[in-house]
Amino acid sequence: MRIAVFAAAILGLTAATPLVLAQSPAPAPAAPAAPAAAPAAGDAAAGERVFAQCRACHQVGETARNTVGPQLNGLFGRQAGSVQGFNYSPAYKTPAVAEKVWSEENFATYIRDPRAVTPGTRMVFAGLRNEGQIASLVAYLKQFAADGKRTQ
Ligand code: HEC
Repeated sequence: MRIAVFAAAILGLTAATPLVLAQSPAPAPAAPAAPAAAPAAGDAAAGERVFAQCRACHQVGETARNTVGPQLNGLFGRQAGSVQGFNYSPAYKTPAVAEKVWSEENFATYIRDPRAVTPGTRMVFAGLRNEGQIASLVAYLKQFAADGKRTQ
């Protein structure tokens, strides 16, 4: 009887041990979850296709000019409403906008619904609702330095 308990204890231990060992490499399968989340990081090539929706009004690149909207070179880190020679709407001159520095985060919020974020803006664009498209657009825009040269 005592031996059986002892044996059971050993068995229990040995049975438990591989279990612990089997569990410890378990976080490894979690690794593929990272690449799965990668699309959220954005795909610049896909972003270029999304930018087709902006091109009627915005340009990027070394020859970019202000057209209906301001050129979008070096956007992230740029003060909102600050492109020289572009005649922004009064909405863009309110402190709430003028004090804003474009970041990936506030851009993502803005582009979802520009007129809700900045009431009265002259940017007539319904908004992008697809997170993947927004992330790709960010990846695309990020490539353009302030002088319009591609950094990537
Ligand atoms: C129909 C024209 C039009 C379209 C389409 C459009 N925009 Fe705009 N956008 C504007 C105008 C005009 C402004 C200036 C807003 C103002 O003065 O109220 C602007 C402003 C902006 C700003 C702020 C720039 C700054 O200097 O602070 C960003 C960023 C922007 N647009 C991004 C986009 C992106 C990205 C798209 C495509 C997904 C897009 N816009 C589509 C017309 C447009």
